[in-house]
Amino acid sequence: MIDLSITRLLINPVLDRARKDYNVWINSDDHIMTSEELIERSFESDALLICHSELMSSKVVAQLSDRVKIIANYSVGVDHCDLEALKSRGVVVTNTPDVLSDATAEIAILLLLASSRRAFEGDQMLRKGTWEQWAPIKMNGIQMTGKKLGIVGMGRVGQVVAKRARGFDMEIHYSNRSRLPKELERGAVYHDSLESLFSEVDMLSLNCPATAESKDMINRESIQWMRPGMVLVNTARGSLVDEDALIDALQSEWVAAAGLDVFKTEPGGNSKFADLPNVFMLPHLGSSTRETRKAMGDRALENLDAFFAGEAPKDRLV
Ligand code: DGY
Repeated sequence: MIDLSITRLLINPVLDRARKDYNVWINSDDHIMTSEELIERSFESDALLICHSELMSSKVVAQLSDRVKIIANYSVGVDHCDLEALKSRGVVVTNTPDVLSDATAEIAILLLLASSRRAFEGDQMLRKGTWEQWAPIKMNGIQMTGKKLGIVGMGRVGQVVAKRARGFDMEIHYSNRSRLPKELERGAVYHDSLESLFSEVDMLSLNCPATAESKDMINRESIQWMRPGMVLVNTARGSLVDEDALIDALQSEWVAAAGLDVFKTEPGGNSKFADLPNVFMLPHLGSSTRETRKAMGDRALENLDAFFAGEAPKDRLV
């Protein structure tokens, strides 16, 4: 039987399915495995099923056992993997696209609503007993309906965010590596630069992959391109944001509110975020629904099944 190591606990239906076809080792206390542990495990494994929490840096990849033939990611994002290094070692790498687009788009909409309508502050006032009475001038937020939404990265998730946002009569603007065909644009306005996009919209949703080019795309300069009073949400990766620059912009209210599901260093990123009332935070819950976590597991296992059956895995990246 094929030896498969699964680096984090997954929901039972996924583990049950894996155990039927593979000789499974599981990191049963669910800690984030260190580089040394990953390397050690690789000597017992024909395949690794890993999450974005396990760093496959070039240093780790260089020390992996030759036994490992495939790494099936339980994630769509693969910025934790040095793909070039894996490719040069001849290790096949797969991810789990499509199946988490709906769940992640839901969180983007939740963040837009919660941050623009001051949900965190309202919740806290009620819990702490500091809200006295309904008042016409208190806790006025920013209305989402009818505003211009900018989407950075109009891939699978970005397109679902756009679809949901249209339900709020939002006008969709976007930037992307390349312009989408008309039928996928569905009336969205393409911008060939971030400056053009940021200066046009009222709210921004980050939905692009973490790459060397997208690192710190939200920085002191690009924040100046935004209209004062912008609402920014990030369900992609924390590396897209220069957190110190965003914190300054939130303190001055140039950026009126932010909704953050991902951070440079997780769980919560820069500790100053937690002191800002105009930040609504979640602990990387984008794909965290029962349905999606099952679908991600199935997709990762389908990729493994195909590979070991001598077929091309559907989501092969290298
Ligand atoms: C992904 O799939 O990239 C999500 O962020 C969860 O890892």
